[in-house]
Amino acid sequence: MSVVLGIETSCDETAASVVDSNFHVISSVIESSIDQHRAFGGVVPELAGRAHVATIGPVVERALKDAGLDPHNPAIDAIAVTSGPGLIGSLLVGLSAAKGFSLAWGVPFVGVNHLEGHLFAPLLEKSDLEWPLMTLLVSGGHSMIVLQSGPGEHVVLGETIDDAAGEAYDKVARWLGLGYPGGPEIDKLAQTGTPGKLKLPVSMTGEGYDLSFSGLKTAVVRATEKNADVPLADVAASFQAAVAEQLLRKLRTALEKNEVKGVALAGGVAANSALRAGITQLASEFGIVAHLPTMQMCTDNAAMIAAAGVHRISHNGPSPLTLSASPNWQLVDVK
Ligand code: KG4
Ligand code: ZN
Repeated sequence: MSVVLGIETSCDETAASVVDSNFHVISSVIESSIDQHRAFGGVVPELAGRAHVATIGPVVERALKDAGLDPHNPAIDAIAVTSGPGLIGSLLVGLSAAKGFSLAWGVPFVGVNHLEGHLFAPLLEKSDLEWPLMTLLVSGGHSMIVLQSGPGEHVVLGETIDDAAGEAYDKVARWLGLGYPGGPEIDKLAQTGTPGKLKLPVSMTGEGYDLSFSGLKTAVVRATEKNADVPLADVAASFQAAVAEQLLRKLRTALEKNEVKGVALAGGVAANSALRAGITQLASEFGIVAHLPTMQMCTDNAAMIAAAGVHRISHNGPSPLTLSASPNWQLVDVK
């Protein structure tokens, strides 16, 4: 059995984790610079990069110590690092650190796609899960429906053609004068409101699995301008219901057309209460397992990067020291 150190710095989380080849998480440390970005209503790349520079050393050291390893010469077999997609300055901090550690400790490293990392999250919480899996990956930067036939084998059925679901939450929250990140704020407020009080369209009702949230965001702006008397909680509940309806409708079609053993949620928006309830309901209707990640596994973390690294290094081998960061790296189908 081998042991892998994972490093994640693609956005505002600086994370390191030690995971073994049975997908058992031995340690996981996550530091976030979110407090520095709140006042700006979104992640400021330069601030995120600087925070990674300040934090990467201590975070890696803590992850190694928590795993009972010597931080100066840890008994690990490989290093896995997010090399894309993400903010270029942030990615480079993690990638450069991984290359340095790789040389210093004489262990190979592998660059991992951040989205593939998210797809490994369910395995970390249930290592004997049954495949195939239908996964809804929804975050601040991405929204897609992915059919996973096994670890590291996936086909993207559809993805957003404009904004990501989390991005729409953040933009609508900003419009409503709520804090950043907007997802948790709207989700909380929606609990006390009535969905449907604000009439909103459901996007992408046609065939196919592509998603869209930009029109919905504009519809909220228009509808709230016209109906200024609708309470904020009802606006939040109506928006949340419209997002969930689009995602769950597409997911339902995907489940009708593809026989799977489970349905999984991944990414930051996986914390959303309406989606979690909707997916639990869908799973019970289809007689399959619902994989709902813990809050720590919803958000960006390095355990999922280490897990993807375990797979990538054994199937594709290590990366060369010349590997560059790929800020726009797409998740390609692997069959
Ligand atoms: O995956 P993540 O931590 O970062 C990346 O974008 O990679 O996702 C952050 C996104 C933010 O847009 C945030 O508003 C959203 O996840 N989010 C939520 C909830 N919690 C976080 N969206 C809806 N409901 C939530 N409870
Ligand atoms: Zn992410």
